[in-house]
Amino acid sequence: MAVKKKSKPIIPLYFDEEREGLRAAGRFNAQLMDFIREKVQPGITTIEIDRLIYEYTTDHGHKPADLGYKGYNHSTCTSINEVVCHGIPDGTVLREGDIINVDLTTIVDGWYGDSSETFLVGRVTDEARRVVQIAFDALYVGIEAAQPYGKVSDIGRAIERFVKAHGLEVVREYQGHGIGREFHQDPGVPHYLPKIGASQTVLEPGMCFTIEPMVNAGTWRTFIDSRDNWTVRTLDLAPSAQFEHTILMTETGPELMTTTEHGPKPGHRF
Ligand code: MF3
Ligand code: CO
Ligand code: CO
Repeated sequence: MAVKKKSKPIIPLYFDEEREGLRAAGRFNAQLMDFIREKVQPGITTIEIDRLIYEYTTDHGHKPADLGYKGYNHSTCTSINEVVCHGIPDGTVLREGDIINVDLTTIVDGWYGDSSETFLVGRVTDEARRVVQIAFDALYVGIEAAQPYGKVSDIGRAIERFVKAHGLEVVREYQGHGIGREFHQDPGVPHYLPKIGASQTVLEPGMCFTIEPMVNAGTWRTFIDSRDNWTVRTLDLAPSAQFEHTILMTETGPELMTTTEHGPKPGHRF
């Protein structure tokens, strides 16, 4: 029987002015994160955070990529405690002890920048702090594993090994993604090494993609809330944390698009 061969993904490579477009979008997204970082305090609601993001973005002449994406009606995702990703902003008030991931994506002159951070709201449990710390460190383990002419699978292998060595689990159903003039494109960037079908895709200079590991205190398994068909929770409702950057692979190594001089840097202790 003839078996249709899976066609090779078409992965755009970016050079020159295209890289400048990506840098500008990433830089703006990082500035927006700097603005939001100070606002995440006990007492604020997630819909207020969403509103601040919408206003800052549009006041600067840009567009929140989430708004209208696949029917999503907000400018950000706010994922608290056991919510893994795609938490919808609402009237929920942040309380001391919560951890919250704020995921930002902005379109600047047609180019996308995508990054997320998990914030501690006041003092949190040791378990919550640990899951945040390992998620943050796992992102940088993944970035270091990404080298020109290496493979996409190098990233997930390194992240999975690191997270498991710390007794935590990494989410498998959601992954990083190519990004550029579109939000989500090839290649998919798993944060673990699939037993079969690990991506042989080569990390060529000019590729742009996200790394965004979600790390769980308990099981890696998740479920989608059937009431809204967006909110992803851990199956055991144990806490989950995530960090994300947009990365350009250059001739000499990975370049982070979504950073400013502010924000947590490698080695940061939460
Ligand atoms: N920013 C998310 C990512 O990292 C995607 C959010 S899509 C939305 O890929 F529709 F939920 F906003
Ligand atoms: Co994101
Ligand atoms: Co992303």
